[in-house]
Amino acid sequence: MTDREQGAGSGAIGAAADVVARRIGSLQPRVAIVLGSGLGSVADAVQSAIRIPQSAIPGFPKPAAPGHKGELVAGTLEGVPVLVLSGRFHLYEGHSPQVAALPVRVFARLGIRTLVVTNAAGGIRLMFRPPNLMLIADHINLMFRNPLEGPIEEGEQRFPDMSDPYDRDLRALAREVALQEKIALEEGVYAALLGPSYETPAEIRMLQRLGADAVGMSTVPEVIVARARGIRCLGFSSITNVAAGLSAAPLSHEEVLAAGTQVAGQLATLIRGVLVKL
Ligand code: HPA
Repeated sequence: MTDREQGAGSGAIGAAADVVARRIGSLQPRVAIVLGSGLGSVADAVQSAIRIPQSAIPGFPKPAAPGHKGELVAGTLEGVPVLVLSGRFHLYEGHSPQVAALPVRVFARLGIRTLVVTNAAGGIRLMFRPPNLMLIADHINLMFRNPLEGPIEEGEQRFPDMSDPYDRDLRALAREVALQEKIALEEGVYAALLGPSYETPAEIRMLQRLGADAVGMSTVPEVIVARARGIRCLGFSSITNVAAGLSAAPLSHEEVLAAGTQVAGQLATLIRGVLVKL
């Protein structure tokens, strides 16, 4: 079976959702959080945690990206029942966009209405001083793939509206929390590329002209599926490095992970603050 066939289809979604539902028992999560590279510690704050290895969930591939734990944690954060995915699936690992977005389809089947996505990204806006956090206002899909390609999944639309991909009200809540907690949080546009090679300086200059403030290799497939299902999204980028060519330093994944670890505490504070206000 191809990757694409494994990732799509209500059979795969239902099988994965059944396993998660059985493990979490009476917990009824309403919010799901997807953690990006170096941000796994955000899951440590989950109370009464039930840890489900991704290998136990049918259709979920083994996470291969370093810095991703490979588990789904269910429990409560600030009293809100949540699911936290620590180990997303990337297109650059060879997965189809359907596999990258499978967790969101499973979350939707489990009744999630709000999705919080996080990622590591390179800073394009010259004012960014990594490591810092960016509130994602919008995105540009330069992966040239879309998880909605193919037959329409049950509960999804053929042509979903994408004019408010990162929910206006949730962004306002995030800004409120940032102000209260004195966390610097600029809003910006996230451009998603396939990767896994980092960008060239010429590509970063192109992205600057296109209006991107940060660049990464994830998130967009998940948000597209969430919007197709009417799930509202909130997104944060941890700006782990200055994008290629904007500083003399070469980029490394070690630097990305280390910077992520430095802002993970602030990110957890922001997410918890938003959950309190939901
Ligand atoms: N480019 C793409 N993805 C990234 C970067 C970057 O500079 N930093 C962290 N993820």
